[in-house]
Amino acid sequence: MKILHVDSSILSEGSISRQLTAEIVATLKQAAPGATVTHIDLAAAPLTHLTAAHLGAAQGAPVPSALEADVAASKGALADFLASDVIVIGAPMYNFSVPSQLKAWMDRLAVAGVTFRYSEKGLEGLAGGKKLIVASTRGGVFSAGTPMAALDHQESYLTAFFGFLGITDVSFVRAEGVAMGPEAKANAVDAAIRQAHALAA
Ligand SMILES: Cc1cc2nc3c(=O)[nH]c(=O)nc-3n(C[C@H](O)[C@H](O)[C@H](O)COP(=O)(O)O)c2cc1C
Repeated sequence: MKILHVDSSILSEGSISRQLTAEIVATLKQAAPGATVTHIDLAAAPLTHLTAAHLGAAQGAPVPSALEADVAASKGALADFLASDVIVIGAPMYNFSVPSQLKAWMDRLAVAGVTFRYSEKGLEGLAGGKKLIVASTRGGVFSAGTPMAALDHQESYLTAFFGFLGITDVSFVRAEGVAMGPEAKANAVDAAIRQAHALAA
């Protein structure tokens, strides 16, 4: 089993999503000791915004020399994604969506003819068969049925995007309301850690 461990919080000390992805990956490793783990830290090594040159390069066009290193990183990101069986993503809510570093990485995964295609039958995701576990952290509360639920463009976006690539086995380990006082934060983190252990075991 190949595990791809992706962190995107811009914080290191005190990041709850990083704590949760570490718990999830450690539990997965306990259950499958032979599993390999590739860790990507998108805050420490961000990919740049997508440009026309990146799109061209993905379709085989010559790469401008200024973009060579970035395009190589992009190819590596896609290869790691395609090779993985289980993907664990730390995805804090930033301004109702995901960190732009995570979005930049996702932009490199959507490659026509590789991870998705449109045909006469419509859209087809080509990267199915993988399991995705998202460690979702939020200052407020946005779960289904709550007054702020319509403002969730983080979990809903991740579900839609990876569904577009064919990944439908998606689970969320969620710590929300972490900005609503120390007790709310401690309870949310404890519950998420229990959920992480149960899910990954
Ligand atoms: C730049 C930034 C933007 C944020 N935007 C939101 C937001 O829109 N809604 C929300 O509920 N919390 C928001 N938060 C709070 C984070 O979601 C929360 O602190 C979470 O724990 C961050 O994940 P981390 O602990 O892994 O860094 C924001 C935090 C930061 C740093």
